[in-house]
Amino acid sequence: MRLFDTHAHYVSNAFNADREAVVAGLPERGVTRVVCPGDDLAASERAVELAARHPHVYAAVGVHPEECGGWDEGQLEAVRALAGRPKVVAIGEIGLDYHWPDNPPRELQKLAFRQQLALARELGLPAIVHDREAHGDSLEIVRAEPGARGVFHCYSGAVEDARTLVRLGWYLSFTGTITYKNARKALEVIQAVPLERIMIETDAPYLTPEPYRGRRNDSGYVHLVAERIAQVKGLTAEEVAEATYQNALAFFGIEE
Ligand code: NI
Repeated sequence: MRLFDTHAHYVSNAFNADREAVVAGLPERGVTRVVCPGDDLAASERAVELAARHPHVYAAVGVHPEECGGWDEGQLEAVRALAGRPKVVAIGEIGLDYHWPDNPPRELQKLAFRQQLALARELGLPAIVHDREAHGDSLEIVRAEPGARGVFHCYSGAVEDARTLVRLGWYLSFTGTITYKNARKALEVIQAVPLERIMIETDAPYLTPEPYRGRRNDSGYVHLVAERIAQVKGLTAEEVAEATYQNALAFFGIEE
């Protein structure tokens, strides 16, 4: 079984003590491709550097809604420049986060999201979208950029919106949260959407799957996400691992 973790934050401080060893050890744990997203310009730069050091790692570059307080034309141009670096396969993560009251103002989040999504379309790259408690506005921005393609990572929306995204050509990806007791809604979404549009991820160092919840997450746990999807869809974990692997290769434009 080979696995593609489409979203793991190996530039996070949580990996400062052992980053290179954890990342280098992933292929022997079955994880032979990983996309490491940025959440601000500095993290995006570090993701590009990490990808340069490890053959199985790819980078995404972008400014996350929680980090977009200083968003301006200069940051947009900096994301554009980073997107041209080797092994950058997506713009992300970008999107909207209405959860925390002290997040940047919603209008600024929307501007940063709209401009980075337009940049992704212009560059022919997919977007990795973070949508937390902002489902209506996120979908509205996606609809307003019909040439853009992307994935809603750690999908947390309704079945109806998931069907709409699939119709628009978008993908959904799922994390260890689908192994939690309260995952009913996400499991309904997994039942409702075709496997061809699903990818798996850890969102490491966060969202560690059961039965390891509470520990630091890393891509070595992503098989637990594949197993949960397999149970829901009545498939084997191997089938889900391989299908989501192929989906991710096609989505990110990575050759075998
Ligand atoms: Ni993330």
